[in-house]
Amino acid sequence: MSEAFQATKIADKVYWVGAIDWDLRDFHGYLTSRGSTYNAYLVLAEKPVLIDTVKAPFFDQMMSRIASVIEPGEIEYIVSNHAEMDHSGCLPRAIEAIQPEQVYASRMGQRALAAHFHLDRESVSVVGDGDTLDLGDLSLAFVETRMCHWPDSMVSYLPEREILFSQDAFGMHLASCERFVDEIDPSIIDYETAKYFANILLHLSPFIDKALTKVEELDLPLKMVAPDHGPIWRTQDGIQQIVGNYARWSAQEPTRKAVVVCDSMWGSTVKMAQVIADGLAEGGLQVALMNMTACHRSDVITELLDAGALVVGSATMNNNMLPAVADVMMYIRGLKPRNLVAASFGSFGWSGEASKHLHAALTDMEYQMVTDPLRINYVPDGEALNQCREFGLQLAAATIGACEG
Ligand SMILES: Cc1cc2nc3c(=O)[nH]c(=O)nc-3n(C[C@H](O)[C@H](O)[C@H](O)COP(=O)(O)O)c2cc1C
Ligand SMILES: [Fe+2]
Ligand SMILES: [Fe+2]
Repeated sequence: MSEAFQATKIADKVYWVGAIDWDLRDFHGYLTSRGSTYNAYLVLAEKPVLIDTVKAPFFDQMMSRIASVIEPGEIEYIVSNHAEMDHSGCLPRAIEAIQPEQVYASRMGQRALAAHFHLDRESVSVVGDGDTLDLGDLSLAFVETRMCHWPDSMVSYLPEREILFSQDAFGMHLASCERFVDEIDPSIIDYETAKYFANILLHLSPFIDKALTKVEELDLPLKMVAPDHGPIWRTQDGIQQIVGNYARWSAQEPTRKAVVVCDSMWGSTVKMAQVIADGLAEGGLQVALMNMTACHRSDVITELLDAGALVVGSATMNNNMLPAVADVMMYIRGLKPRNLVAASFGSFGWSGEASKHLHAALTDMEYQMVTDPLRINYVPDGEALNQCREFGLQLAAATIGACEG
């Protein structure tokens, strides 16, 4: 019987057997506007191996793709590069259906899989740095890449085909029928890889750096980098570009760009934001003004990936900042963009705590605070708006100073 879903051959004896999630829009708080894929790979060696699985609801799609090229029961091994449920969700059902001889994961992967699925520890065998799995005519080598994305994360390398199966690293949330990066509009790839890094990996930059160095030292020839989300990298230019971007994004050198984030009830704080943005631009910066009634937190962090300044404004409501600003501040705090000049502002009526709380939070986040909060009582007049422009100019000068310093 012909299968509803087909495997895609990506190299001799190597197949993509993952699932396309066209409908995904919320990946724990990250707006995934273009959906995603969960990539699983099948190596049809003498001893066939399945590398990673898919999110639980996509089990049938994965099994159908597998069955289009092999009787699933013939798979000898399953390798779990990453225990997060978008890649392991259907592992218990896959084990039941396939009855593999062995399931392999890193030491931390063994623990994480046991804690997720209440498996016997012994049902998952441990592999680590330097270990190689003999597949008969082919082989699979493992490199642990802790905290890229979770403690269990590891990558697998197929030396005979020079393919790196990189789990979350180098991936993107992008649903497509095209399986290769070079088949897709480069501006979409640039945007979605940056957005993925900013929302998933940014706070782990020191670990990313370490992993990049580790893999570089192994000097593995790379014909293909096959991540667990989105399309596969198969051109030398593309591979160099994404590896270079990861090094650049994890270094987070400041740039001449400011992100102004704000929210407002009656428009005064937004008006302040607009004039501050003009001041920042006049001072020589690129500006992204993001009103949280119109923008999503995951787009704010994407803009911050290559910024040099973060300016946050909120009206005071009930002695506090507005909830949408608190939301994005919490998100930024977790993802830890670094090397930013920062400041706060806002309109208030009688007590005006919002911009003070923002100032304290930004200070606590270890940003370079160059000025006190700019607070305006109720509706800004010409003089107040002039202060906003000056505030923007001052922040621009400090940001340019930080870029040059
Ligand atoms: C529901 C509500 C609660 C407010 N609570 C405070 C407050 O606790 N302290 C304060 O200084 N102003 C408070 N204000 C006044 C606003 O901060 C003030 O109107 C400000 O100009 C609003 O700025 P916006 O136009 O950017 O929303 C409150 C206003 C509203 C509507
Ligand atoms: Fe992950
Ligand atoms: Fe993932």
